Amino acid sequence: MKLPHPIQYQGSKRSLALQILQYFPSDIETLIEPFAGSAAISIATAHYGYAKNFIINDLNKPLLKLLELIIEHPDDVSKNYEIIWNQQSENSVEHYFTIRDEFNKSNDSFLFLYLMARCAKGAVRYNKNGQFNQSPDKRRKGTMPQNMKKNIYGVSSLLKGKAKFKSMDYRLLIDDLSDKDLVYMDPPYQGVCSNRDSRYYSGIEHDKFVNFLEQLNKKKISYIISYDGRLGDKQYGESLPTYLNLEHIEINAGRSSQATLLGKKDITYESLYLSPALLNRISFKNITDINSKNKEYMYAS
Ligand SMILES: C[S@@+](CC[C@H](N)C(=O)[O-])C[C@H]1O[C@@H](n2cnc3c(N)ncnc32)[C@H](O)[C@@H]1O
Repeated sequence: MKLPHPIQYQGSKRSLALQILQYFPSDIETLIEPFAGSAAISIATAHYGYAKNFIINDLNKPLLKLLELIIEHPDDVSKNYEIIWNQQSENSVEHYFTIRDEFNKSNDSFLFLYLMARCAKGAVRYNKNGQFNQSPDKRRKGTMPQNMKKNIYGVSSLLKGKAKFKSMDYRLLIDDLSDKDLVYMDPPYQGVCSNRDSRYYSGIEHDKFVNFLEQLNKKKISYIISYDGRLGDKQYGESLPTYLNLEHIEINAGRSSQATLLGKKDITYESLYLSPALLNRISFKNITDINSKNKEYMYAS
């Protein structure tokens, strides 16, 4: 079953959603996504009916507003996308740059959807002033309006009336969390010496993140983090400290496009970390079964 995905977003967990959801309890009161991005995990969770309610948060305001509009007002978003897309004439590259300039002045979420659908490699990029600076894909015109409409309505039907939308730093969500919830966190790539990543609007600091996890442990909050990973033998990202008592699991993210280009067979493994409260909620046997199934999958591919 293909899940709807109107937003093309760098680092989207759409293709890994099924593997990640294996570790979710089935009785989630509210699923909280503090680093929602394209909200791929909320969409998959709603599709499988694992959670009653959702809090979708991202510091990137135009992105978060777009998610809210897609879910609550699918008709407006589809119509606006179609208008902007149809304005692309012969000179669609020029059209892209005009829309990009307008977006950088207005932060209009309708314009943002078109830019994400049309930008090179489907990858958003920001300069140091937070301005969107990715170039257009010169060979494609972006998702056709009828396909976009299908995806928009697909997401809306899964989440309408169930989601709350926030655009704040993840640490400010602490008071919203209870032990019946699940927090799924996929923070931006953690550079060791810099907290800026041109792929995202903002980065996070490792120490502050670890401190936040300590607070969640004290409150017995169930959470799952997508954090570091490895490509073949090469580890990337900073590890999380052992005193947090997290269960570390690796999932197979497939062959990286870089490795494929170089004709290599290296597979990327992404880490998942499960919190102590979550481990109490899903039985140990379940985790062992899932891990051995994952191993079979890792070796089979
Ligand atoms: C790796 S992406 C998440 C991708 C997402 N899992 C998906 O499937 O599309 C990380 C997101 O965190 C957001 N972000 C960065 N710093 C943040 C902060 N301090 N608080 C909340 N969100 C933040 C970025 O805007 C970005 O959308």
